[in-house]
Amino acid sequence: MVYDVLVIGGGPAGYKAAERAGHKGMSVCLFEGRSLGGVCLNEGCVPTKTLLYSAKIFDYANGGGEHYGVTVTGAKIDHAQVIARKDKVVKTLVSGVAMQMKGAKVNVVKAQAKVLSKDASGITVEAGNEKYVGKKLIIASGSVAAVPPIPGLKEAVASGDALTNREILALTEAPKKLIVLGGGVIGLEMASYFNSIGTEVTVVEMLDRIGGPTDIDMSEMLRGIYEKRGVKFMLKTKAVAVKGSTLAVENASGASELAADKILVAIGRRANTADMGYENIGVYMERGAIKTDDQMKTNVSDVFAVGDVNGKSMLAHTAYREAEVAVNVIAGERDAMDYSAIPAVIYTNPEVSSVGETEETAKNKGLKFHTVKMPLQYSGRYIAENEGGTGFLKLILDADDIVIGACILGNPGSEMIFGLAMAITRKLNCAEIAKVVFPHPTVGEVFRDAALSQVK
Ligand code: NAI
Repeated sequence: MVYDVLVIGGGPAGYKAAERAGHKGMSVCLFEGRSLGGVCLNEGCVPTKTLLYSAKIFDYANGGGEHYGVTVTGAKIDHAQVIARKDKVVKTLVSGVAMQMKGAKVNVVKAQAKVLSKDASGITVEAGNEKYVGKKLIIASGSVAAVPPIPGLKEAVASGDALTNREILALTEAPKKLIVLGGGVIGLEMASYFNSIGTEVTVVEMLDRIGGPTDIDMSEMLRGIYEKRGVKFMLKTKAVAVKGSTLAVENASGASELAADKILVAIGRRANTADMGYENIGVYMERGAIKTDDQMKTNVSDVFAVGDVNGKSMLAHTAYREAEVAVNVIAGERDAMDYSAIPAVIYTNPEVSSVGETEETAKNKGLKFHTVKMPLQYSGRYIAENEGGTGFLKLILDADDIVIGACILGNPGSEMIFGLAMAITRKLNCAEIAKVVFPHPTVGEVFRDAALSQVK
């Protein structure tokens, strides 16, 4: 048979595309070589959050509850049990995706797929020694951890001394000393977990800040909070060599060696395009990622690329929306991707949430803007639940007081940031936001207060 749509990859991008296409009545075949759910469900977003939730409970039991009148003696955390629970959560969610595929009548082929050709009969993909033909192809093969050519690093990954996000989430014995190479999203979330459970953590970051492009005020406050908890940060520090689990580094103070039990490699990800046969049909790539337009079309007609593989945003929630856009376009509907308001969250404690422009990006683009910064202590709920908390919300407003960017340092920023994304997407100004009634008492009220402060 000739399928309407072939989908390569069963992560958030691929399973969402397959499900949407199936529900629109298209015949769909999805290929997944590892496990449905991809990196996000199996070795990324969801497993990390289960670990961080255990850490949060432990932090409260291990002294953190005392501010709230709760004292626990003999609090313990069992890392192996945390990992076992993570495996259970992953299993539940992966079987949920399988059910979703069934519900959408998607044929799931559990094999590595390779694109062979494209001609008048369609696009041919080979998987598990079978050939499959489709009228359209959606590429959603995701990304893999980048392992840069630092001498000895590849060998250390092979020997298990250095770990990527995949291996560290399977580790049943917590290291006593951990070097986190890269102070970005993965590095900070894992540093947070291991710091909570008692591991000695050193973060090595080549830039002068942690959290990558995140708001600089949030980055600096977050670093201060974790430094107080005992995490060591080595900024402007370059990793030059790895020998077993020892990392040689260089910075302004000179060269030194850091010894640990394990090294986490968290210095970015690259699109998973090697050995997939994409070049057999002439798919154009830039720095290994598939180039797409805002309708997720590649340079090859009938071929789309969604999720991490196009290198645009590398977030599961972007992938969902890109998948919907691709399927809508295939179905002949008008749709296009808008990247101006993609929320990003670092699930440390406190959480770091942002969307749209930062002061830095707005400045670099030459935009006319002003900011409103408000402490989260304006919210009674925040004070009730965050003893000693120093979080804040910042709005970036254009000349007409329309929100073009926002960030929140504090909990539950991850549950609030979508409201700010909506404001940016719908181009709401402060007066319009202030007319919306927010529930009280919530931390989200600070968003309305910040908007109201601009209304004369
Ligand atoms: P990242 O790009 O967030 O951070 C990498 C960091 O490593 C950067 O700060 C960079 O300056 C630093 N770095 C690069 N090379 C280095 C070197 N040789 N020595 C020292 N530092 C170096 O990448 P990360 O943390 O690996 O995450 C990968 C992807 O996964 C990201 O695209 C992220 O969006 C996604 N992700 C998202 C999460 C979330 O939304 N909460 C959670 C985890 C991952």
